[in-house]
Amino acid sequence: MNAPLDVVVMAAGKGTRMKSRTPKVLQRLAGRPLLHHVLDQAANLAARRVVVITGHGATEVEAACASGAGAGGTFDLKFALQQPQLGTGHAVQQALPLLAGDGTVVVLSGDVPLTRAATLRALVQAGGGERLALLTVRLADPSGYGRIVRAPDASVQRIVEHKDASDAERAITEIYSGIMAVPAPLLARWLARLTDDNAQHEYYLTDIVAMAAADGVPVVAHCIDDALQVAGVNSPVQLAELERAWQRREAVRLMEQGVRLADPARLDLRDDERSGARAELTCAQDVEIDVGCIFTGRVTLGEGARIGAYCCIANATIAAGAVIQPYTHIDGESRGVQVGEGARVGPYSRLRPGADLGREVHVGNFVEIKNSTLADGAKANHLAYLGDATVGERVNYGAGSITANYDGVNKHRTVIGPDVHVGSNCVLVAPVTIGAGGVVGAGSVVTHDAPPGVLTLGRGRQVSKTEWHRPAKKAP
Ligand code: UD1
Ligand code: CA
Repeated sequence: MNAPLDVVVMAAGKGTRMKSRTPKVLQRLAGRPLLHHVLDQAANLAARRVVVITGHGATEVEAACASGAGAGGTFDLKFALQQPQLGTGHAVQQALPLLAGDGTVVVLSGDVPLTRAATLRALVQAGGGERLALLTVRLADPSGYGRIVRAPDASVQRIVEHKDASDAERAITEIYSGIMAVPAPLLARWLARLTDDNAQHEYYLTDIVAMAAADGVPVVAHCIDDALQVAGVNSPVQLAELERAWQRREAVRLMEQGVRLADPARLDLRDDERSGARAELTCAQDVEIDVGCIFTGRVTLGEGARIGAYCCIANATIAAGAVIQPYTHIDGESRGVQVGEGARVGPYSRLRPGADLGREVHVGNFVEIKNSTLADGAKANHLAYLGDATVGERVNYGAGSITANYDGVNKHRTVIGPDVHVGSNCVLVAPVTIGAGGVVGAGSVVTHDAPPGVLTLGRGRQVSKTEWHRPAKKAP
């Protein structure tokens, strides 16, 4: 059972029906290229080596594997270019020189992302290092697939491709999934004997099944009943179907942990395409998530946290009891965002990298916060910007106020002491410090440090003129 295991991933196909410039195996499911999902499977199998068969878009496919693919796996990754593509058997022939020749070879498809690790382990076990093991499934509509042809004693004799099958064979509902485990020395022997004498004039990998039977090598069909695990992506419709299936699995997993989802069909977890960070939503007890939320990268929700409808949250930690109201956008990018216990954010707030909110902080509609710390109890409730700011406890930051943190060349810090009240529509021109307990009058442009405990005004003085008349309309 611990014989070395190598994986061949078929990824040379064009994917014409995707109608995309992107190679099919690089189309994304849950923010992650399909091929990476398959490489994850290889990692789960503790593969020794993985050979990816490339063809269409080979350069792009190789480049995409260089970054973050199969993270956590320790396998050795190689590529074999198949040019032209003469069939699945021809594809595996290209990989052969890169395989060690001992142990078991597992053949996977770069466009089949949802196979469970346990299924592949069971398949390898069924092969036992000496038999040919095929992953099969029964389909109500098996058309297009290779059919599993059995002898009267039910032993597997061969696979017949749909285009080569007789009417009687086409009535068989058990199909080959495209996934097999085969002893490496036998694979080499059988591949050498393939011909393209068939309806498609291709070298069929599936022809090795009849060779095994002829050589007296037992063929085992490991038949599963979950067709999703072997479903491939050929079109945008199928990609969307598998996306929903993947999301459904994640939603169920979260609900099983106690998370309350308003609608499991309207939740999305995604890898962060920018960093490759995995989709990882960690929830403490009694978390509630309303419909339409998208969680990207690593997000942690503390006990009792509530996420309102249609929030996009990436790379952030939301502490216990915090409430994120609808339509809020939080993106910590690589730095992260922290929302403190009992904080209230939204609706329509925007928290950017380095936003660090303390306990009971309130951030309201159309407030943008970047690279700023808001200490416990601070509030910025409406239409405001805080960038590169240190905001003290209980500060009230008025509607329409902004930090002018960028002089066109450098960024500067604004420090607002505890218990400061910044009136509405102020411009704090950084670098600037507002001393503790001070008040900045509405409409002020603050360019110099303000001492603590005083009223600071920086605006035109209001006048009311008594000797003034409204203009009257001139006679024509
Ligand atoms: C194949 C199987 C069929 C099985 C079906 C499951 C063969 C001959 N048939 O059929 O029994 O039911 O998968 O989906 O194996 N590829 C290459 N190079 C090639 C041809 C294909 O890399 O020259 C790759 C494709 O990109 C794809 C995979 O191999 O990832 C399967 O190829 P595809 O053409 O989809 O095979 P099917 O005809 O569907
Ligand atoms: Ca196919």
